[in-house]
Amino acid sequence: MEPIYFAHLTDIHINSPEKNDPLFGIDTTAKLRKAFEDIRGLKTKPSFILISGDLTQDGDLEDYRHLKRLIDEESAKAGIPVHVGLGNHDFRAPFREGYLEEAPSEESYYYSFIDRGLRIVMLNTQVPGTHDGRLDEAQLEWLRATLDEPAEQGSIVVLHHPVTVTPTALMDSHLLQNPEDLAEAISGRDVIGLLSGHIHFHNIGSLNGIPSCAATGVAFGLDPTAQNSMDFLDNCGYNLVAVKNGQIAVQPRYLPGDYRLVYEYDLHKLSAHA
Ligand SMILES: [Fe+2]
Ligand SMILES: [Fe+2]
Repeated sequence: MEPIYFAHLTDIHINSPEKNDPLFGIDTTAKLRKAFEDIRGLKTKPSFILISGDLTQDGDLEDYRHLKRLIDEESAKAGIPVHVGLGNHDFRAPFREGYLEEAPSEESYYYSFIDRGLRIVMLNTQVPGTHDGRLDEAQLEWLRATLDEPAEQGSIVVLHHPVTVTPTALMDSHLLQNPEDLAEAISGRDVIGLLSGHIHFHNIGSLNGIPSCAATGVAFGLDPTAQNSMDFLDNCGYNLVAVKNGQIAVQPRYLPGDYRLVYEYDLHKLSAHA
């Protein structure tokens, strides 16, 4: 069976340029364009692109309208479809109105699709009004039903908040709050990997033996070795993912940059702000 190859981007934190308020001095629209430019230059063209949340920084309607134009343009230029999910910086009603171009509503946004025999399940770990990550019972029930029938090449579950601890524990208080419920829902099913973002640095772990890979942010990174602060770095990266014969392989990719420290946030003042 032919391998399936796709790109996993996360944490693009788009700000409408009309606001003229660059995030830490970073032009996040330019960052996303840079990631797409890199993807267009890859020797093997990915079949699709996933973006796992924190689509915007502020979640305003104008941000999602701008994001829609930006992604439509870059997706067409690359000739690659793009599938998005939501993160703690996103807001459902303006997302639905500005990005999906449908009636605004607070309804959660999760879905699945199958491409070349591989099923992608895009979850929504948002807890509205907070920066926390959690899967509620309705979504877990939907997930169990979705996985009832195995896909030819297995399933990959995508969620904004990671499920596994990290070596330096910088963001470990910001992980999914109920990984045991997710583990139970995917136990004995065809899930071959979990992909996430939110922590803004590459990390590999596992949930009950299933590989779990977090990607660094497209908009910016965090230094995972910082001890008492969140050190925001001006870098950019994403993950390349391949699936062959039911096995997943993930290749972190960093784009050239100066890795400048753009913001230092005292962790003692932090409640949750990834
Ligand atoms: Fe983020
Ligand atoms: Fe986040």
